[in-house]
Amino acid sequence: MRSYAKSIAFYERTRKHLAGGVSSNVRYASTPVPLFFERGEGARLYDVDGNVHIDYVLGNGPAILGHAPKPVIDAVQRSLAQGQVYAGQHRRETELAERLCGLLPGAEVVRFATSGTEAVLMAMRLARAFTGRTRIVKFEGHYHGWSDQAYISARPPLNEAGPAEAPVPVAGSPGMPKSVLDDVVVAVWNDLDALAAAFAHHPGEIAAVIMEPMMVNGGAIAPHEGYLSGVRDLCRAQGALFICDEVITGFRVGLRGAQHRFGVTADLAIYAKAVAAGFPMAMVAGRRDVMDTLLDKGVMHGGTYNGNVQSMAAALAALDELERDDGAVYRDLEQRGTRLMQGLAALGAKHKLPVLVQGLPAIFQTFFTKAAAPENYRDSAACDRDMALAFHVALQEQGIRVNQRTTWFLSTAHDDAIIEETLAAADRAMAALT
Ligand SMILES: Cc1ncc(COP(=O)(O)O)c(C=O)c1O
Repeated sequence: MRSYAKSIAFYERTRKHLAGGVSSNVRYASTPVPLFFERGEGARLYDVDGNVHIDYVLGNGPAILGHAPKPVIDAVQRSLAQGQVYAGQHRRETELAERLCGLLPGAEVVRFATSGTEAVLMAMRLARAFTGRTRIVKFEGHYHGWSDQAYISARPPLNEAGPAEAPVPVAGSPGMPKSVLDDVVVAVWNDLDALAAAFAHHPGEIAAVIMEPMMVNGGAIAPHEGYLSGVRDLCRAQGALFICDEVITGFRVGLRGAQHRFGVTADLAIYAKAVAAGFPMAMVAGRRDVMDTLLDKGVMHGGTYNGNVQSMAAALAALDELERDDGAVYRDLEQRGTRLMQGLAALGAKHKLPVLVQGLPAIFQTFFTKAAAPENYRDSAACDRDMALAFHVALQEQGIRVNQRTTWFLSTAHDDAIIEETLAAADRAMAALT
C-alpha cells in the first residue's frame, strides 16, 4: 500500500492557516486528502511521500506539454528580468494576439484575461451589452467557473433539477444571491428541441447561449452530429450570440479547438488552461463588432495581471510547440489517446466490468454503466459514481493519477512507453475491483 502520511500531516498543518487547507475547492476531490506535490516533470508528478504518479489530471487541463516543458520554462525564464506587470502594453501581447487571430476559428480580435472564470464573465457582459438583452442560456452539467452568474446547474443534484423539459436553475453554492437565477435559463444539452423550447419561452430575451462545445465537466460527452451547427442557427434566428467555452477543449482537442474539430464557428469563444501550458492566462476571442463594444460602448473589462509578461511569454512559447508542422503534436496525441481509450475499453471487457470509454483522445472519461452511452448530464449523473471512485483509488495505488470522476487528460509528454505502463497499471487496478 502506498503511504500518504506526509501529505496527511501537511494537510493537517495547512488547515490551521489556509482556509480548508486548499486554495481551490476542486482540490478536496483527492484521496485520501488533497495530496502535496514536490515537483512535476513531463508526464509524472512526485509527491512529498515519495510516490510517483503518471499524471492524467495535468492541473485540470493546462499542462498540455506535460509538467515543466523546457521551451516554455526557458522562454519564461528569459522574460523574468524584464519585469512582470507594467499596467501598460508590451510587444508580446501584440504578437500573441496576431498569431491567435490567424489561428482560431472566428477570432477577429482577442482580449486577454487571467482566469477562465473572469473570461466567461467578460463574454457574458459583452453579449448583454451587444444585444441589449439579459438572459443567458446555459446547459446542465456545463461548468463555466465559480462566479455567481455562471455557477448555476453545473452539477445539480437530480432531485433538485426539475423535469428535463424545463430544468430548474440550481445555485451551485451557498452565498449566491437568488436573483442571479432569474437571468439564466437552463436547458438539457445535446437536444435542439430543448433549446428551441427555451427560446420559445423567452422570446426576444436571450442575449447568448453558452456551452462547453464538448461537455467535459459534467461527463466527457461529444456533441451529436449537427448539434452545434443547429445551436448556431437557432441563435442566429433568435438574435442571440453563440458562446463556446473552450477553456478545456481549446488547444487540447486540436490546434484550433473544438469549433474547428466539429465544424462550427461561435460568435465568441473563451480559452484558458492549455493556451499557456500551465501559466495563468485566459482570453475571449471572437467577432470584431461584438468585441468592439469594449471601446465603443465602454463595456468594462479590467484585470491587473491580464497580459502579464510571463503568461504572454509562456503562451508564445507553447504556441511554437503546438503549431509546429501544422499541429504535428496533436496527431501524436490523437494516436496515443486512441490507444489508451481502446486499451481501457478492452481491459474493462477482460475484467467483465461495465466500463464505457467516451470522449476524444486528448480528453476522455471512463464511465461505469450498463446503460446506453450517456448523451447529457442527466445520463452521466446516472452512471455508477462509486465504481468510478473505486477505480480512481485503485489507479492511484498503481501510480496512475486521474480525478475522482476518472477523467483522463493527455499531454504530449505521455509517450508510447507511458501509455503501455498506464495500461499495465490499469489492468492491475481493474483486477483489484473485481
Ligand atoms: C469549461 C470551463 N470553463 C471555465 C472554467 C473556469 O476556469 P478557471 O478555473 O481558470 O477560472 C473551467 C475550469 O475548469 C472550465 O472547465
